[in-house]
Amino acid sequence: MKSMTEHYIGPEGIKAKRASYFYPCTQHFYQNPPQIVKGSMQYLYDEQGKEYTDFFAGVSVVACGHCNPAITGATISQLGKLQHTTAIYLTQPVVDLAERLAELLPGALRRTFFVNSGTEANEGALLLARMHTGRKGFIALEQGLHGRSNLTMSVTGLSMWRTDPFLEEEVYFIPRPFRTGVAPEEAAQDSLKALDKVLEEQGHTIAALIIEPIQGNGGIIVPPDGYLQEVKTRLEAYGVLMIADEIQTGFGRTGRMFAIEHFDVVPDIISMAKALGNGVPIGAFATTNHIAASLNRPSASTFGGNPVSSVTGMAVLAYIREGRLVERSDELGHILKQGLEQLMNRYGTMISEVRGKGLMIGVELMASNPDVGAILVDRVLEEMKEQGFLIGKNGVHRNVLAFQPPLVIEDRDIQEMLKELEVVLAGLEPSEEEVQ
Ligand SMILES: Cc1ncc(COP(=O)(O)O)c(C=O)c1O
Repeated sequence: MKSMTEHYIGPEGIKAKRASYFYPCTQHFYQNPPQIVKGSMQYLYDEQGKEYTDFFAGVSVVACGHCNPAITGATISQLGKLQHTTAIYLTQPVVDLAERLAELLPGALRRTFFVNSGTEANEGALLLARMHTGRKGFIALEQGLHGRSNLTMSVTGLSMWRTDPFLEEEVYFIPRPFRTGVAPEEAAQDSLKALDKVLEEQGHTIAALIIEPIQGNGGIIVPPDGYLQEVKTRLEAYGVLMIADEIQTGFGRTGRMFAIEHFDVVPDIISMAKALGNGVPIGAFATTNHIAASLNRPSASTFGGNPVSSVTGMAVLAYIREGRLVERSDELGHILKQGLEQLMNRYGTMISEVRGKGLMIGVELMASNPDVGAILVDRVLEEMKEQGFLIGKNGVHRNVLAFQPPLVIEDRDIQEMLKELEVVLAGLEPSEEEVQ
């Protein structure tokens, strides 16, 4: 295929520069990664002009589609008018966005502080909880992921993302309501028992429990019905706040505006980022009037709530409403899940479980032998990429295929991907030896 332009350095050139100028912690997907140079709605294009249907959306970010003109039009127009002032001057886009979020957020959550990333949003949420309760400790779930700063990493359960050797000590981890080979209700009961124990022993020193309503990086784990309500009731008995980390699940991803709405629970604080900017950096944490009153000492974010991010956020929320993206995520999510379940019926030796809600679906490979599962996941990713489909991966053992496409994906894209996935899986059936 003909090269799209002349000056691209190509994947090898990029890899060489990364090796020279990045830290060794930076990794990329694929043995033979493409150089992505263009995006349009659910499609990405490499430097050769090859088209890929994107089933990962930049890790749940580009819900409204790549370079969606309805959103980039607003962003570009704002860039030409006013880019930056900080909160010490009055600008309108940020207050409009705060007002719109208050309309969409569950329960009485209505005050928002804007930042630039998910990590910062969780950091702010944790600070707010400490200031409101006057307590220092936190409870978090094993295998959760909440960020890269010291505090958000301290509440992150996934060991691969806990790289700081000096993490906070007053964080109490409880098992998540999921264990391979165990009924979800039993796993939930074990998790609640562990929560009871922490609360009995430490309850009055704990500011908040932070939780992803559906764990993303941990392998797309949906808690059984009733679990989150039980958690909330127990926390309330000890005056411990609940922070719902909706950074990955927010804004329609799971077939609800916020994933917590599936479970009929209103948290005390919600943190948001990713899809709110559709690729423009933005983060936020929101709470009630009562709790917000505790964040009363001066605080400011240089870039948080800047007019460009705020106008983009408004355009995103308008597009989600007008395009019925929340409903679409629910409807297409069912189609995607059913298709993947059919593949599980055919390739049961490889596929252990299909789970998730809306357009956030995980397919775990070889749960009984996750190291082999991880190898297979990498092979599936590589071969699907060759066929023009970008799929994600996650899970404690990195043996879960993650399907989190832009919510503008179409039925036709899903069917084509499923057809190709079937071909790839058929060629990958593990040998008897590998299964052992
Ligand atoms: C649930 C969750 N919380 C927090 C973060 C951190 O967000 P960021 O990378 O924007 O700092 C992520 C990132 O993937 C996430 O999935």
